[in-house]
Amino acid sequence: MKLKRTKKPRTKEQSKARRAAKQRNAKIIKSHRDILGIGNLRRAWKGVLTRPKVCFQTKIECLVMCRAASEVKGIIVEIGRAKGGSLALMSIASPLSKIYSIDISNENKRTALKTCKKYKVSRDRYEMITGDSAVVAEKLNKDVDLLFIDGDHSEEGVYRDLISWVKYVKKGSIIMAHDYYPVKHIRRKEVGPYDAITKYILKYKNVKFERLVHKMAFLRKIA
Ligand SMILES: C[S@@+](CC[C@H](N)C(=O)[O-])C[C@H]1O[C@@H](n2cnc3c(N)ncnc32)[C@H](O)[C@@H]1O
Repeated sequence: MKLKRTKKPRTKEQSKARRAAKQRNAKIIKSHRDILGIGNLRRAWKGVLTRPKVCFQTKIECLVMCRAASEVKGIIVEIGRAKGGSLALMSIASPLSKIYSIDISNENKRTALKTCKKYKVSRDRYEMITGDSAVVAEKLNKDVDLLFIDGDHSEEGVYRDLISWVKYVKKGSIIMAHDYYPVKHIRRKEVGPYDAITKYILKYKNVKFERLVHKMAFLRKIA
């Protein structure tokens, strides 16, 4: 015979604490929803909340990355796949896009496939390409609706990615670049992205800097 579990009645303090926690959570969720938007982003939102340990971005960076991906119905290119964290999240956020995810190394490909499987991203939604990003750009030769630069973080590496890829990005589209440390005192080892982007914008002027969220820089192709 099954025994019925009887709930202990909550004390006044417990009820009060529960209500306060609910209100706090509602506030957090509302502010994240503002960033993320609603609609088909529900799954992305859940994905971000349980964001894979293999993802290199902070929660807020994941949110803004998903937000940018959600506005795309075309081709997304990710330079630097590693264990597939950002690939899986962008795939969830942008159900009508195809994502080309490039990495110079094959080492983490199995983990990346597992990550996508865990987040129920169907296999036809993405393509994992192994190779140097600059070489792949020439071979792929496709118009890009969203570019995410997170590969070789050296100044030369990021500059080379900009030179090789920006020409394929559609006018008006977004280019995201991770690990952008603009202020001297918070600049750590990786100063490559900041230096390369600054140098590129000054020289080519076909891209403008839009905003920075944590270490995620957003650029827009303007010409
Ligand atoms: C920071 S990780 C990418 C993290 C991933 N975007 C994420 O958030 O889950 C950087 C990756 O870039 C790759 N990489 C480095 N140089 C590269 C190049 N020239 N072309 C393509 N990938 C490169 C490395 O192998 C590494 O896996």
